[in-house]
Amino acid sequence: MSTSVTAVVLAAGSGTRMKSATAKVLHPCAGRSLIAHALHAVEALTPVETIVVIGHQGEQVRQHIESLGKVVSFAEQTQARGTGDAVAVALHGRRIADTVVITYGDVPLLTPETLSALLNDHDGRAITILSADVPDPTGYGRIVRDSQGRVMEIREQRDADEEIARITEINSGIMAVDADFLTRALPQLSDDNAQQELYLTDIVAIAVKEGLGVGALVIADAVQTEGVNDRSQLANLAAEMNQRICRQHMLNGVSIIDPLSTWIDADVVIGPDTVIAPHTQLHGATVIGAHAQIGPDCTLRDVQVGDNAVVLRTHGMSARIGDGASIGPFAYLRPGSVIDDGAKVGAFVEVKNSHIGPDAKVPHLSYVGDADIGEGANIGAGTIFANYDGQDKHRTRIGKHARTGSDNVFVAPVIVGDGAFTAAGTTVRDDVPPGALAHNDAPQKNVAGWVEQKRPNSDAAKAAKDTHD
Ligand code: UD1
Ligand code: CA
Repeated sequence: MSTSVTAVVLAAGSGTRMKSATAKVLHPCAGRSLIAHALHAVEALTPVETIVVIGHQGEQVRQHIESLGKVVSFAEQTQARGTGDAVAVALHGRRIADTVVITYGDVPLLTPETLSALLNDHDGRAITILSADVPDPTGYGRIVRDSQGRVMEIREQRDADEEIARITEINSGIMAVDADFLTRALPQLSDDNAQQELYLTDIVAIAVKEGLGVGALVIADAVQTEGVNDRSQLANLAAEMNQRICRQHMLNGVSIIDPLSTWIDADVVIGPDTVIAPHTQLHGATVIGAHAQIGPDCTLRDVQVGDNAVVLRTHGMSARIGDGASIGPFAYLRPGSVIDDGAKVGAFVEVKNSHIGPDAKVPHLSYVGDADIGEGANIGAGTIFANYDGQDKHRTRIGKHARTGSDNVFVAPVIVGDGAFTAAGTTVRDDVPPGALAHNDAPQKNVAGWVEQKRPNSDAAKAAKDTHD
């Protein structure tokens, strides 16, 4: 690829059919916005400049792209006067590279490989169109070829007669165009058509008239050229993308038991020999190690999971799970949770902004908020780390190899020393020195005969009487 490229990404359309306060190209698909997918594909061409044409809801689009840290230029098309006008607005007053590659912001499945193939194929022509043969070409521009198969023009659906409407080869809208030719051709476009728009597609007939080479690269994988116009199409393309992502992970050595119920965002990383069980969703910047088991029924967003970890029926966000750790079933890991290597967070345990040390265990029914639990410590069932005094949050520290009893409340800030024990039912308000046992139960009193006296004739009273007899 010796040619230099200016990339133009069209995203000024009104997106009316989305019926959304959010710009169409900002809607997500596999964890990235549609426009982020489009820009990702374009990056493969290493363009000298990428120009995004914005219009309707353009400020949102600009801010979003800037927040992604992408280096692009913006061109504002104030009125959607057609794809030809959009490209003219993009190129207006700019230095342009040898070749202009035009693509759409709402075509998420288009791959970097396909765009590279288009550019390679373009070699020496005025225009190379990415086309596809589809079972239902309704709505698309048709590629009109002569008897020798040469591309003659693109005709829009609304300007097509019956014969042309029967053509099944469609214009994806994605094309590579020689910059000098494009600069010459754009001012020649007219809006003498059904939609009274400036059609970019009319440059094809202009090139043919000038005797210049026009070609179309027919892509077998037609879904790559499909755009999003409404939320139903978005759901279909997102499902298709998800299946492609799942397939890629499986080819990389990840077992996915049920790809149809598994949702994995584009940027998720998964190590080999990991098993993803059904109904699992892996979102955002989630990274899973090797030989792990995730699911069934996990939703993890921005979670790091180590090798050999087991995570069952867990909801996790912005958390880290170490090598060989065991989480769930029914665990809730909130932001800032670090579950160290070999540690366990068991059934019905919620963890927030806490560090659970290596091999430490919180096995049952607990809330762990703002705590640091030392290596090898064991937290009894039904423990609450009371981190909030109604005004401020405070931390609790549990020492290494401490053993805390069931049904404890740690009233933060409080420290339990290394190797200390606490008795069942203890409310720990004061620090416990290393190696000490803390307990604060009142002595138990048994009031003899209370049931027979206070609940006479009850089943309990009868049962008690029977044992006495
Ligand atoms: C266009 C093509 C058609 C092709 C189809 C593929 C033209 C005239 N027609 O039709 O041949 O089969 O795409 O999906 O090019 N846009 C702007 N500014 C505008 C108009 C459009 O930025 O003034 C952007 C839209 O945001 C969208 C893209 O260009 O990303 C295509 O626009 P759209 O209106 O969807 O074009 P179609 O009529 O579908
Ligand atoms: Ca469209």
